Amino acid sequence: MRVLVAGGAGYIGSHTCKALARAGHQPIVYDNLHTGHAWAVKWGPLVQGDINDPVALSAAIREHRPEAVINFAALAYVGESMVQPIRYYRNNVAGMITLIEVMRAHDVGSIVFSSSCATYGVPDRLPVVEGMQQQPINTYGRTKLMGEQILRDACAAHGLGAMALRYFNAGGADPEGELGEEHDPETHIIPLVLQAAHGMRADISLFGTDYDTPDGTCVRDYVHVTDLAAAHVAALTRCKAGTFQAYNLGAGHGASISDLIARARVLTGREIRTVEAPRRAGDPPILVADVALARQALDWAPAHSSIDDIIRTSWAWMTQSRACAMKAKAR
Ligand SMILES: NC(=O)c1ccc[n+]([C@@H]2O[C@H](COP(=O)([O-])OP(=O)(O)OC[C@H]3O[C@@H](n4cnc5c(N)ncnc54)[C@H](O)[C@@H]3O)[C@@H](O)[C@H]2O)c1
Repeated sequence: MRVLVAGGAGYIGSHTCKALARAGHQPIVYDNLHTGHAWAVKWGPLVQGDINDPVALSAAIREHRPEAVINFAALAYVGESMVQPIRYYRNNVAGMITLIEVMRAHDVGSIVFSSSCATYGVPDRLPVVEGMQQQPINTYGRTKLMGEQILRDACAAHGLGAMALRYFNAGGADPEGELGEEHDPETHIIPLVLQAAHGMRADISLFGTDYDTPDGTCVRDYVHVTDLAAAHVAALTRCKAGTFQAYNLGAGHGASISDLIARARVLTGREIRTVEAPRRAGDPPILVADVALARQALDWAPAHSSIDDIIRTSWAWMTQSRACAMKAKAR
């Protein structure tokens, strides 16, 4: 299948392109390179463009004739979304509408969408199941929920087949060292912890050590990026015309921030300094996914999502592979 991968030069999108190519599909990356990297596009063409630009998007679809779309393209910093909400709605929500309009104009009938556990807000029950009420508590989460709602309506009215994959905390890097996480600024906890291990930052802040959790720090569900990539490959062939489906993607178990740092100390052999800081508004104490539906519907399992696998592959990327991968592509 030829697949237009919007946002395919980013972290999760680039790993998915590799998995698509391995499975015999042809990814065509469409990305404005706002946070993505040209060096991470290795398994098909890169079209530089914005999902808010219908002319460029139509030209890409005319030229490459994709049979399906995966939409990773989004602004994804929670804090930034609260101070620049209109920019976030424009990029993530208006961009989604443009993408669907162009898909309809060119008879592209299937789309897989990067949604997020941020659509649930602060869940009142654990683990989080898909049928639970979605009440996002920040603008970023609201843009993702709106994306889902738009797709749901477009499926019912226009016969689109859509799947929203609600990722919990993505982590890890390509086990073969070709890709990894490169965000600037970095806000995700695993690369931040490893940057502290590497000496790239002095310490790591523990935002809240008095939660009602076993060690007082927040518990999160970390899912390996290669498991996310595999789920997208499975999702592509399971979109059904006229149907909207949504699945959680997580490991199905949680680790506390303190657990994570303790494992990172052991696996890197480095000291990692921590500093206690106040709780951040809107951080739920525990977020853990129920992934039974995804296991069943996608025939998928979070096979690489142990904390150790996630830390090991991220550390290898940070310390060994990253410079080589970027240099090889630049040549
Ligand atoms: N990383 C996580 O833990 C996580 C969790 C839940 C959901 N998500 C979602 O998954 C998706 C991918 O996340 P990521 O961590 O790989 O982020 P990323 O920033 O690495 O990738 C996003 C990509 O989209 C591109 N992009 C953004 N706006 C665009 C636009 N208007 N037109 C064209 N390209 C555009 C960026 O240049 C980048 O390459 C995002 O939609 C994000 O909201 C991520």
